[in-house]
Amino acid sequence: MSDAGILKAKILVVSTTASKDPSTDASGGILTNVFETEGAGKWKVEEVKIVGDDVLEIQRNVTAWTDGENAVNLIISTGGTGFAVSDTTPEAITPLLHKQAPGLVHGMLAASLAVTPFALMSRPVAGVRNKTIIVTLPGSPKGAKENLQSILKLLPHACSQAAGADSRALHAGGIKKLEKDAGSNDPSLGPSRRNRSSPYPMLSVDDALKLIEEHTPSPQVIKAKVDGGLVGSVLAEDVTATEAVPAYRASIVDGYAVIAPTDGASSKGTFPVASISHATPGEIEPLEAGQITRITTGAPLPPGANSVVMVEDTVLKTLTDDGAEEKEVEILAEDVKEGENIREIGSDIKTGEVILKKGEEISAVGGELGLLASVGRAEVSIFKKPVIGVLSTGDEIVEHSRPGGLKLGEVRDCNRPTITSAIRGWGFDVVDLGIARDKPGALEETLRDALRKVDVIITSGGVSMGELDLLKPTIERSLGGTIHFGRVSMKPGKPTTFATVPVKDNSGNRVNKVIFSLPGNPVSAVEWPGHRKQYWRSEKFESG
Ligand SMILES: *[C@@H]1O[C@H](CO)[C@@H](O)[C@H](O)[C@H]1NC(C)=O
Ligand SMILES: *[C@@H]1O[C@H](CO)[C@@H](O)[C@H](O)[C@H]1NC(C)=O
Ligand SMILES: *[C@@H]1O[C@H](CO)[C@@H](O)[C@H](O)[C@H]1NC(C)=O
Repeated sequence: MSDAGILKAKILVVSTTASKDPSTDASGGILTNVFETEGAGKWKVEEVKIVGDDVLEIQRNVTAWTDGENAVNLIISTGGTGFAVSDTTPEAITPLLHKQAPGLVHGMLAASLAVTPFALMSRPVAGVRNKTIIVTLPGSPKGAKENLQSILKLLPHACSQAAGADSRALHAGGIKKLEKDAGSNDPSLGPSRRNRSSPYPMLSVDDALKLIEEHTPSPQVIKAKVDGGLVGSVLAEDVTATEAVPAYRASIVDGYAVIAPTDGASSKGTFPVASISHATPGEIEPLEAGQITRITTGAPLPPGANSVVMVEDTVLKTLTDDGAEEKEVEILAEDVKEGENIREIGSDIKTGEVILKKGEEISAVGGELGLLASVGRAEVSIFKKPVIGVLSTGDEIVEHSRPGGLKLGEVRDCNRPTITSAIRGWGFDVVDLGIARDKPGALEETLRDALRKVDVIITSGGVSMGELDLLKPTIERSLGGTIHFGRVSMKPGKPTTFATVPVKDNSGNRVNKVIFSLPGNPVSAVEWPGHRKQYWRSEKFESG
């Protein structure tokens, strides 16, 4: 029938408009592309032909491709399957068929119906003429593509059978092999045809964390003001002090700044109080030999002074004439040495010292903000925090606040409020993405929309083997994403999933966004974000 097992297909575009102006046809190219990119190398599209909505024209072209030596394996038509007066493709094709294939029709309708109720407005037919399979697709490029995708994996088998291949040989691998070839991870496949054992290998927690690290895009470095908004941010630079703390020699007690003798002489004696140094900014008179300065805790030492005597070691001798100030004070301490009761310049922080390291987190209570403030930093480089979207999935989920009792099977959404508050508590911006329903189209649309708005999506629900768990197939097939792991060896939380999805950012650059899917079970979903707090137990722990 064909060289090296390559199947021959021809595409018939049925459209009066396109038959007059071929540039108006989009379906032909799109369908060809589906065969090339998703056909597993099994197909060769030999021809795309455009004909008008005319029964005879359609029939003549189809029979030219089915009857005779050079018959093709598959004819796909697109267009003319609606309810308009001019729509005649099914009427043209049906009489040509030697055998009907209602299964293919069913499969296509079921797949489209999951996306749009308008699927009911299509009248597809499918069947076999001589050795060729004929399938009619709708005219809309999107609908035609989806319909073709929904049956593409099964077509090679159908075509081989129609072409007369030994059916016992074809069934050698059994239904198992057929399903495998058909791709049991297809969102449009019913529960009975989806894989019953998860195709994702079980990973250890460590391996899972490694993959997350490997595939999560590096954060952007941005400048940020030093204020409360920094809490929860991680520094992207080593911060060095450009100023010393303290910036001047300061007293650590209330007392008197003195010039301590350096020759071992006694420091005792009665001295005139030349000035007063408070802990307020300003100039202070230099201290001269034989004088002392009254000084308060934290106040700068006057130039010339080299030590501070505590007030407890002194006695007031005389007052000024108005009685308001001290005139003379007696120092009782005998051996006051240089440098006593003084906090030296830079004794807390030296100029040029690294006070915070790249990678350190600015906490609300750890004093990092105070440290930055103490050396006069107005701005620092930080890693931009990802914006995180939180989505619940499942038809059974209702808003936690919905008034009234629950109907049978309904579950209040406790995952989303819990996860949202945990993330907010860690200082991240959260976008509430609501509840997505278990319909392939609805979930895909919600995720696409969310990927435009957030950097990370956390979903709960829809990741185990339940029949409506559409998330993985939607990520892989509809969004072109990669699932890095789908099962992790921990309890609870085994079906935890990590995926990345390529998207274009606002400047048209390709970036990866990250999706974490947590189990729908509320306990598992809540405990996963707390895994650092050792809530999880790996299976290894449990068995050992
Ligand atoms: C197929 O359709 C084209 C365009 O309408 C027509 O010109 C042509 O004759 C048809 N081919 C056959 C084999 O009838
Ligand atoms: C295909 O079917 C038609 C109509 O039934 C028949 O006339 C023709 O001989 C068949 N051709 C081949 C190659 O089987
Ligand atoms: C289902 O998944 C398992 C595990 O990956 C795989 O070995 C098996 O072949 C799959 N079965 C089908 C029918 O796809």
